[in-house]
Amino acid sequence: MSYLERYERLLAKDPGRAVQAVAHWIGAEWRPFFAELREARPVLATPAFTLVTRFADVIEVLSREKVFTVRLYGEPMEAVLGGPYMLTQDATPLHWAERGLTQAVLPAHDVPRVRELAGRYADEALDIAVPAGRIDAVEGLARYVLMRICGDYLGVPGPDPATLSEWSRASMHDIIRNLPRDPNVHATACAAGSALRAHVSELITERRRTPGEDALSRLISLVPPASLGFDELRLMVNGAGLPLGLVENAAQSIVQIIRHLLGREDSVREEAIAAARSGEPFDGYAWEALRFAPFNPLIFRFCERDHRLASGALIKAGTPVFACTSSAGMDEEAVADPAEFRTDRPDFVRLHFGYGPHDCVGKHVGVAVIPEVVRRVLRRPGVALLPGESIDFDGGPFPRHFPISLGAS
Ligand code: HEM
Repeated sequence: MSYLERYERLLAKDPGRAVQAVAHWIGAEWRPFFAELREARPVLATPAFTLVTRFADVIEVLSREKVFTVRLYGEPMEAVLGGPYMLTQDATPLHWAERGLTQAVLPAHDVPRVRELAGRYADEALDIAVPAGRIDAVEGLARYVLMRICGDYLGVPGPDPATLSEWSRASMHDIIRNLPRDPNVHATACAAGSALRAHVSELITERRRTPGEDALSRLISLVPPASLGFDELRLMVNGAGLPLGLVENAAQSIVQIIRHLLGREDSVREEAIAAARSGEPFDGYAWEALRFAPFNPLIFRFCERDHRLASGALIKAGTPVFACTSSAGMDEEAVADPAEFRTDRPDFVRLHFGYGPHDCVGKHVGVAVIPEVVRRVLRRPGVALLPGESIDFDGGPFPRHFPISLGAS
């Protein structure tokens, strides 16, 4: 029976279970489920949310910020950060101005420096693990590297790496993975956010005395026109936002790319390893692997008023809308031979950093860190998946552990 047949049957009997089934398929069976939707029902309106699955429709949803707004991020994110933030605002002066300020302190010309840091810390983590013959790609590698990038480059080290890591995990759980609005998740995030803000306030005082070459110090030293109202609160909110953008997105991406590349049974695995070891262009392997194993299947928005997509489907006001970026990346209307692994695809077919007015302002950091960490792993002799081990989410929304082999100890 097709997914849609199963869905329709459940819907007739118990709409709540039909919605749960859709949520399950998005998480566990996204490729065949979205393939069927793109073909038979590209816009699926469930009683709880509407799924948009074709590339062109996804792009349209993410482009129309006054119709499909970021309203659903508002409550959790403003509670964590202590005030409005660019990702809780649409088409406002604050969104426009503070995007600009953040982009100015995370410039593209920092890519070589960030890449060097990522490579150095990845090698450090791998060297520590070599005697054991295995490494936890989540805690021992990805988060190890990312916490150090948060300190050295973003200027927000946390009181210690483990505490910053948990603040990030708790906050982002509430912001991007808590649409059911579990109050316990929200309460944990609020506590984490409050501790993060207090930490960032202390850092601001410290960096005023002794500036560093990091993004927070740069934010402090900016002199925006007074009319922007970039006061102490705005500085603190934007400083606290820096690590939150990076850690969960990059950690999960790194882990899923490693899992995908090492798990492939065709020639791609060996080709990727050969490219990593020879110094040949490598990044296309990482970005293409992320298209097959996306860290996030969709970006959610809220439909503020009835809107007919250019493709014809009507989306009703008041509906949460899921722009299924993972599905868009497999849409043959936009991506040539999407089932093929091709390292030379143009960037625009992969929506890893979002699209439109809310696309990622930290993209250059991600572009530098993610492929470089994976490359350092693949360079190691004997690197392989461990039999029976998979990415362990430990019942949460983000990976907790993923042990991989570094060869015999
Ligand atoms: C220092 C690193 C990073 C920072 C500071 C950062 C920050 C941000 C911010 C502030 C936004 C919202 C922009 C807006 O509202 O206009 C955003 C969007 C986004 N970022 Fe990042 N980010 C970082 C790294 C990453 C990485 C590594 C990934 C993925 C691999 C990623 C994926 C995304 C996506 C998918 C969006 C779109 C969200 C949406 O439209 O709802 N980010 N990022």
